[in-house]
Amino acid sequence: QTSNVYQQCQGCHQTNGTGIPGVFPPLAGHVPQVLAAKGGREYLINVLLYGLAGEISVKGQKYSGAMPPFAQLTDEQLAGVLNHISTQWGNDKALPKDFKLFNAAEVKAKRATKLSQAQVLELRKKLELK
Ligand code: HEM
Repeated sequence: QTSNVYQQCQGCHQTNGTGIPGVFPPLAGHVPQVLAAKGGREYLINVLLYGLAGEISVKGQKYSGAMPPFAQLTDEQLAGVLNHISTQWGNDKALPKDFKLFNAAEVKAKRATKLSQAQVLELRKKLELK
């Protein structure tokens, strides 16, 4: 699963997915937590399509930046980068047992319901992430 697309993420989330504490949240060691939450998979697709803004907490650290939307990428590219962040940096070892790779069709389906960055934040709150 190639991800040239992740090059568009690493300026913020860093090559190794660690992010920058307090500025850009980590994806390494974190994406599996999101996937384990009910609605987490759909939430991740929405973050990529519509971005995210407002205060969040990841591993006890607060972030209140904004992530831009990436709706300009194709469904295939978005599924690919979602698979990348789900399986890199040891994340593959922490995935829920029933995890299946993301596919373009489920990304496409989420394009029908347009969301603001603030609405994506509301969806995140419903995940009840620790
Ligand atoms: C949040 C992935 C690009 C800045 C997130 C989250 C994911 C993610 C999954 C949600 C984390 C959570 O809810 O716990 C990605 C991917 C990218 C990308 C796959 C590339 C396609 C970027 C870029 C920036 C950025 C380029 C900086 C310009 C942020 C920030 C947050 C965030 C600041 C937290 C927003 C907030 O505090 O409300 N990212 N990201 N991301 N991302 Fe990205």
